Amino acid sequence: MPYEITANRRRPKTFDELAGQEFVAATLKNSLDMGQIANAYLFSGPRGCGKTSAARILARALRCEKGPTSIPCGKNDETICPQCREIFEGNSMDVLEIDGASNTGVNDVRQIKEEILFPPGTGRYKIYIIDEVHMLSNNAFNALLKTIEEPPPNVVFIFATTELQKVPATIRSRCQQFNFRLVPTEKIAALLLDVCVEMGMHAEEEALFWIARESTGSCRDAYTLFDQVISFSEGNIRMELIREKLGIIGLEKLNELAEACADGDFSLAFRLTDELLASGAAIETLVTNLANYYHNLLLIKAGISRETILGDSVSGFSKKVLDKYDAVRLEHSCELFFNLYRDLRYSISPRFELETLVSKLCWLDKWISPAELGDTVEGVRNLLNSQELSSNPANMAAAGNTGNAGNSGDVGDAADGEGGSLSFSEEFRRQHMLPQGGVDQGGIDQGVKNVLDVFEGTIIEENIEENDE
Ligand SMILES: Nc1ncnc2c1ncn2[C@@H]1O[C@H](COP(=O)(O)OP(=O)(O)O)[C@@H](O)[C@H]1O
Ligand SMILES: [Mg+2]
Ligand SMILES: [Zn+2]
Repeated sequence: MPYEITANRRRPKTFDELAGQEFVAATLKNSLDMGQIANAYLFSGPRGCGKTSAARILARALRCEKGPTSIPCGKNDETICPQCREIFEGNSMDVLEIDGASNTGVNDVRQIKEEILFPPGTGRYKIYIIDEVHMLSNNAFNALLKTIEEPPPNVVFIFATTELQKVPATIRSRCQQFNFRLVPTEKIAALLLDVCVEMGMHAEEEALFWIARESTGSCRDAYTLFDQVISFSEGNIRMELIREKLGIIGLEKLNELAEACADGDFSLAFRLTDELLASGAAIETLVTNLANYYHNLLLIKAGISRETILGDSVSGFSKKVLDKYDAVRLEHSCELFFNLYRDLRYSISPRFELETLVSKLCWLDKWISPAELGDTVEGVRNLLNSQELSSNPANMAAAGNTGNAGNSGDVGDAADGEGGSLSFSEEFRRQHMLPQGGVDQGGIDQGVKNVLDVFEGTIIEENIEENDE
């Protein structure tokens, strides 16, 4: 028997075999059993989750000699009807699969409209399956509209698309719509286990779950990665071998690097990064793995502990790193990695960029978010406001004529007299040359402005210095 990739060999042949699409399957089966056949169906959803497969099942359900039925003939049934057999073999004259991506023009649609006028050669229905229908041009869509609304009897359209939002509303409203979903990790892993059993192979559960997670909800992607893994596994699928062959970095290594960063230990962090790269990990792989790692920490912070989502038990992740950061800083680290991943292909030196990022992670705990900075400034503003209200009347009176920076020494003396040290707000006023005592709102705003100037000033000063040289 010729080699057939697992995805094609395992294409679902009944509605019940569509993993993760129970709602779609049940609705389609019901309407078939009740004889309610629409003129047009629209299947939308992510790639590799069963749209084309469902369209072919529906085509058989409609054309089967026993039908329309929710259970058309199976491929190996002794009594398989000619209509179903033709569809299985892909040579039915009355089931036309058209790729919307390469037949996008109005002329292609005109041709369909002309063909449609001829009744089906054999059987009950003539079926047009148009894949990636969102690729059709506007004119092509317009040409289709009338046909979909009132097609000649016995013509059924099945459209499939990964980008529902690109299908005009006028078309959508004329179709019965079905939204296909990403297939849950557990279901994909179960499908993979079926294949292993079928092929008499042994597989570690961890490895199957890893493949399932990597494929992020697409059965086709899962089968494709699975085929790649089989090619080097010699009948025994093991996670350790996958790590080795596909250059995946183990959790212990990631913990080690993240802990060095959490300790602010630059030199250790750089050395570990170097070791990982020297061991053959590609920079993209390292970046994705680290992004995944910090993202998982963020999930754990949010209380998520399911191993199927995290890829490891919570206890596998470094407690030290988890304790060190709050969600805001973890979120920021994910962002840094996602940005780096996007920028990698334009970078002159991906390695330098990765090292810079590692260096940034070494002071991640000191990073403050714009929101926190805003809160701090607001806090200062409130502090100054409250100071104004609680300041004593004498000060208020004095402020009327001497509210300027010149008398800061007085307050220092006064504070010394009271307790020996300055309160924060007093110290703050002194450092930023704010008037003492009763300042007006303008004074407070000036204070906030001064704080911001200090931030900006450092940058500007540095620039001036450089330019002078
Ligand atoms: N829901 C599903 N259940 C089981 N296998 C699936 C499912 N969706 C996709 N597959 C697998 O992926 C392959 C491609 O699926 P397909 O129906 O062409 O996806 P789509 O048209 O949504 O991109 C199928 O041959 C099958 O092996
Ligand atoms: Mg498809
Ligand atoms: Zn049949």
